[in-house]
Amino acid sequence: MNSYDKLKQHLESNQSTWLVTGVAGFIGSNLLETLLKLNQSVVGLDNFCTGHRYNFDKVQEQVSEAQWNNFTFIEGDIRSLDDCKKACDGVDYVLHQAALGSVPRSLDDPITTNENNITGYLNMLVAARDAGVKRFVYAASSSTYGDHPGLPKVEGEIGNPLSPYAVTKVVNEQYASVFARCYDFKTIGLRYFNIFGQRQDPNGAYAAVIPKWVDAMIKDEEVFINGDGKTSRDFCYIDNAVQANLLGATTENPDAVDQVYNVAVGDRTTLTDLYEEIRILLEKRFPHLKGATPTYRDFRAGDVLHSLADISKSETLLGYEPTHKIGPGLDEAMDWYIDDLT
Ligand SMILES: NC(=O)c1ccc[n+]([C@@H]2O[C@H](COP(=O)([O-])OP(=O)(O)OC[C@H]3O[C@@H](n4cnc5c(N)ncnc54)[C@H](O)[C@@H]3O)[C@@H](O)[C@H]2O)c1
Repeated sequence: MNSYDKLKQHLESNQSTWLVTGVAGFIGSNLLETLLKLNQSVVGLDNFCTGHRYNFDKVQEQVSEAQWNNFTFIEGDIRSLDDCKKACDGVDYVLHQAALGSVPRSLDDPITTNENNITGYLNMLVAARDAGVKRFVYAASSSTYGDHPGLPKVEGEIGNPLSPYAVTKVVNEQYASVFARCYDFKTIGLRYFNIFGQRQDPNGAYAAVIPKWVDAMIKDEEVFINGDGKTSRDFCYIDNAVQANLLGATTENPDAVDQVYNVAVGDRTTLTDLYEEIRILLEKRFPHLKGATPTYRDFRAGDVLHSLADISKSETLLGYEPTHKIGPGLDEAMDWYIDDLT
């Protein structure tokens, strides 16, 4: 049995209290679903700025009534220290996901991104420290690698940030490390690499590439690729990200704490190949996609050209073993999108 299976078995019969911030969003609602299924008690905090109440309905459908009753929701904002304190009260583990995602959003409005991702993050650190939580796991980002040319990306080698969003994620890591040094506060940062899967929002100007394309392809709308299509990403299925959070929160390996980790699968896919993989999966249900092609346009400001993770640190120190490479992940995600979008 691997580390994650052992952990899940342990959790099923040992209840702790977890705070998931950003619980109405994509990653947060998936953390909620897994934790409730493992009979954990979950407090959720969200202000619904990009998350949705209907994600709670979807989670509720997946768990028993008794499990659902283990969920307490606080509608609040991480920019308010009082809301953060209320949410951290009595909590064992914090999984801090709330932030404004998206590089383009941060280019359009760096101030709001900064308020949510830096001030809000600092409020959460202070509230969690004062509440004496056992561990603070937070959503970091592969954008932290910035202009560093190395591939694959290893945690210790970062470049200059290429967007205001990336700056906020670099600062998050710096605050975590200062809180470790100054207050002996236990944190783990997870540098997510293009996470995808159920409940990732296809709508809005700042939607992520996979749900946006699936939505457009199903509706027979034009799909745009920014750049020449050779831009590549290490696309990582949501189950892998959930696994990394639970392992990070509970690891008892002292060397594993106060560290940042890549959360990815260690494979890269170009945007042109991604388009084709999605098209082939959808073509079975949507014959209009036979022979469909994308439209190429200019590169987008702030984007990193290539992204590929070295996941050996997460494997060695956390016992992380991704269960889904991109193909099987897309397969599962596509079933969900087809049900949800049609
Ligand atoms: N999805 C990815 O590929 C990816 C990659 C790298 C990093 N991340 C990080 O992972 C985290 C979760 O991302 P996601 O993809 O689930 O995004 P999401 O937008 O679906 O979820 C974020 C949630 O946080 C909530 N939120 C935002 N600001 C808030 C505030 N001030 N107070 C309370 N709640 C607030 C939103 O309403 C939303 O429910 C973010 O920190 C993001 O930067 C995601």
